[in-house]
Amino acid sequence: MKLTLAFLFVISTSILYGQTTITLFPDQAETKINKEIYGHFAEHLGRCIYGGIYVGENSDIPNTRGFRDDVTGALIDMKIPLLRWPGGCFADTYNWKDGIGPREERPSMVNVHWGNVTEDNSFGTHEFLEFCELINAEPYINVNVGSGTVREASEWIEYVTSSNISPMTDLRKKNGREEPWEVKYWGIGNENWGCGGNMTPEYYADVYRNFASYAGGAEYKIACGASDFDYNWTDVLMSKMQSKKNLMQGLSLHYYTVTHDWAKKGSATDFDEEEWFTTLSKTLLMDELIQKHSTIMDKYDPEKRVGLIVDEWGNWFDVEPGTNPGFLYQQNTLRDALVAGINLNIFNNHADRVKMSNIAQTINVLQSVILTKDDEMVLTPTYYVFKMYSVHQDATLIPANIKSGKYEIEGKSIPTINASASSKNGVVSITLCNLDPNKSENIVISVPQGEFASASGQVITAENMNDFNDFGERESVSLMEFNVPKPKDGKLAIELPSKSVVLIQMK
Ligand code: AHR
Repeated sequence: MKLTLAFLFVISTSILYGQTTITLFPDQAETKINKEIYGHFAEHLGRCIYGGIYVGENSDIPNTRGFRDDVTGALIDMKIPLLRWPGGCFADTYNWKDGIGPREERPSMVNVHWGNVTEDNSFGTHEFLEFCELINAEPYINVNVGSGTVREASEWIEYVTSSNISPMTDLRKKNGREEPWEVKYWGIGNENWGCGGNMTPEYYADVYRNFASYAGGAEYKIACGASDFDYNWTDVLMSKMQSKKNLMQGLSLHYYTVTHDWAKKGSATDFDEEEWFTTLSKTLLMDELIQKHSTIMDKYDPEKRVGLIVDEWGNWFDVEPGTNPGFLYQQNTLRDALVAGINLNIFNNHADRVKMSNIAQTINVLQSVILTKDDEMVLTPTYYVFKMYSVHQDATLIPANIKSGKYEIEGKSIPTINASASSKNGVVSITLCNLDPNKSENIVISVPQGEFASASGQVITAENMNDFNDFGERESVSLMEFNVPKPKDGKLAIELPSKSVVLIQMK
């Protein structure tokens, strides 16, 4: 057998340093990682909007035009690039005209999907778009297909985006906004196979064509895509849009990590290693899902014109004891940081097809980046992952060959290391997750022909796998400096702590 020098290097370094080797190929980097992959989702659900983002101008909580100052600052610091609104299931019950004009005149409605609470519509289109301007995020609006009409959707798009003279633009001006907003992304329905109307894919595809035909002002139209492993939905949508390609720019996919099953999802904070392992294994399925949905999309769209938009993802646990079951409030531990890190690495690595993703949901709902209680705010471990990974926004994906060790438990195993890499402005950034909660992992990163003068790092880890940040307590999980040696001859040897998310930057 002929041993190449590279092969000898891999063998010798594995003996010397341990189990994982990562080889990066910056010379093959060509795919942009859209900043929109780091997008978020805010629905009228529980305390995401009210109490989370918006407290009203008369609140004692420091605010700017009703938007919480602490939350606004934290989202800006995290570099939030995009926000999806108003749902979710709520979107297909929403009448946008109830949420414009003088607040005291706005009618109320019942939020039937989320606790049957009264929605007073004080946060509507203007508030959402003003908030996006404040946090410097692109807006992504989801129109109502399930219970709304084509005309309502078309008028909403006109109200927001048109600079023509029309009844809708006159109404917008009357409500205080002279110039149109720039809203590129529009979702046409949400989960129309379920809460958005229980439609078949064939029926929804026809409905979509109808809505999209009157959505001229919507530059990037996103069709409702599949849930999880429903490959037939993707196939039918792609096939039925073949003759009307210009009507669909994106197709969504929803996949939540549910540790057990929907009836008993498990606790966000009280779990053992078996549950840790199951949660991470189920998160890794995102890679298979994207591959398989992409393969179907490739059949109809080999030039990858249509983006796969993972507009809902994240951990879904049982609600915190004593909280409203309809509000989906859950805590967020180091396990959530790993789940975020793994998913974001997977999206980066599929950046040729995945053009946007939105974690569910920004504040106080499911896998949040921020939790609030009255005037207090907590930044979750997931927040710190988004902050750390912001280096990948609009960077160029570097293909990587990862030979990972295995994390084993009771005869089952998954790769110990999950990673992705990108380059921007001459800096190579690698984000790595060590899925093993017990053992650190020795890793050799090599860049053939690479010459780097220095390297730096950041780490998110904690003493226990279920550590979390809580109100009134010192943070248990945050972003810390990670010492890395100087790279030599394009190689860097590091020891990745157990249960950690790490960023290495070389330049
Ligand atoms: O994010 C919570 C809910 O999950 C959304 O409203 C819905 O789209 C999905 O089922």
